[in-house]
Amino acid sequence: MGKGKPRVFVASTFLPEVCSEFAEVFDLTFAAEASDASGPLNELTTLSEEGMRFDGVLFSLDVAMRSEQIAGLPESVSFLATYSVGTDHIDLELARANGLAVFNTPGVLADSVAENAIFLMLGAARRATESIELIRGRSWPGWNPTQLVGVQLSGRTLGIVGMGDIGERIAARGAALGMKVLYHNRRALPASHLHGEGYRATAAALVEDSDVLMLACPSTEETRGLVNEALLSVAKPDLLVVNIARGDVVEDDALIAALASNRIRGAGLDVFAGEPAVDPRYFDLPNVFMMPHIGSSTIEARLGMGRILIEGVSRFTAGEDAPNRVV
Ligand code: DGY
Repeated sequence: MGKGKPRVFVASTFLPEVCSEFAEVFDLTFAAEASDASGPLNELTTLSEEGMRFDGVLFSLDVAMRSEQIAGLPESVSFLATYSVGTDHIDLELARANGLAVFNTPGVLADSVAENAIFLMLGAARRATESIELIRGRSWPGWNPTQLVGVQLSGRTLGIVGMGDIGERIAARGAALGMKVLYHNRRALPASHLHGEGYRATAAALVEDSDVLMLACPSTEETRGLVNEALLSVAKPDLLVVNIARGDVVEDDALIAALASNRIRGAGLDVFAGEPAVDPRYFDLPNVFMMPHIGSSTIEARLGMGRILIEGVSRFTAGEDAPNRVV
């Protein structure tokens, strides 16, 4: 890397205030601006052919970084900075093998995502989809004691899969609502931890004891398809499934069948397999409360995500370690 600001190719679109902060420390080339007569050079696969020289690439979940894209990067590229905590859109092993440092955005979005998790849980518990349709459809006949009866969360059990930064913040909020917190994780927390006694060694043991199954884990080989027919078969009939993790942690056929038959009570979903193409069967299920992957969409999280990438890359270029370096 030469002297001066690191030269960074910006492959995704960021808020103007985030871009201004990036521009203070990086020499930015935006995908849409790096165009020639044939159009924008936003195809990472052809960057090296275009003879472009960059030190790094800034991108997010909307840009895959797999073998095709990594092979297309100019040799000068030494780091990849993803504006996301999730890294499932990146071939990390290949990045490592190619000597690329990878940075992500842990921690800074955890409060925003946890708030959205509670929003989805409340929406599913209080039948928000049906309520919104009734009132916005101008068809509300007026109050009556049988209308849209949901469930109270206080006194119920919140079972969290994935007790990382986000899971812990959801646990704190769930406890504040009067919920008992259980969790399943790769490793148990120390018993002295506030929720340490709530460990369940398997997802099935967690589901059996939970009223809300909260998915807050990364998408990995171990977690993909975790919510399947077998797991749902041990659920209580009142179970609410909330997914703020990744769509592929759920097998849609199994979840949709359980929701359509009222085998479980409902779901709150922020993420979907194959986004943005949501399985259309979800739209016909009144017991599903859905959001378009807005977990980290707050100005606080967005600014924090930019700043942690600036910090990580700046440390890297200064030859130092950074806590948000993934490989
Ligand atoms: C992430 O960061 O991985 C979220 O899904 C989007 O912010």
